[in-house]
Amino acid sequence: MSGKPVVIGSDHAGYEMKMSLIEELRALGHQVLDLGCNGPESVDYSDFGKAVAQAIADGQGERGVVVCGTGIGISIAANRNLGVRAAVCHDETSARLAREHNDANVLALGARLIGPEVAKACLRVFLATEFAGGRHAARVAKLGS
Ligand code: RB5
Repeated sequence: MSGKPVVIGSDHAGYEMKMSLIEELRALGHQVLDLGCNGPESVDYSDFGKAVAQAIADGQGERGVVVCGTGIGISIAANRNLGVRAAVCHDETSARLAREHNDANVLALGARLIGPEVAKACLRVFLATEFAGGRHAARVAKLGS
């Protein structure tokens, strides 16, 4: 991974988990670009998924993390951007395979579905795992960019 910051964003349902993931990222020595939201007041996941995606597409960061209640809405929003491959992950295996097979550059998490320790484990694996390339490279290329 580059020394660029990890870009992170959430809606209100993911706010608390986002803050604990920021702590984890800093403890791991990463810079963090936090694009909000900034509190538990109700907001729209679409705005924050798109903001993180745009920052990744613009090269402000190499990897991103998005959190909403399920991880689904905010991943759909992020995936509207062709520079982004966002994967909803619920465990370390899905986080590892999202990197190895799909070269996912955004990790999407559901704060109402998984606990904070599982989320942190997903995050660590997501950041530590390289894309396997090989047979997966042509498939990923067909997704467009
Ligand atoms: C917000 O209530 C909830 O709908 C949102 O966080 C997310 O789960 C949508 O996919």
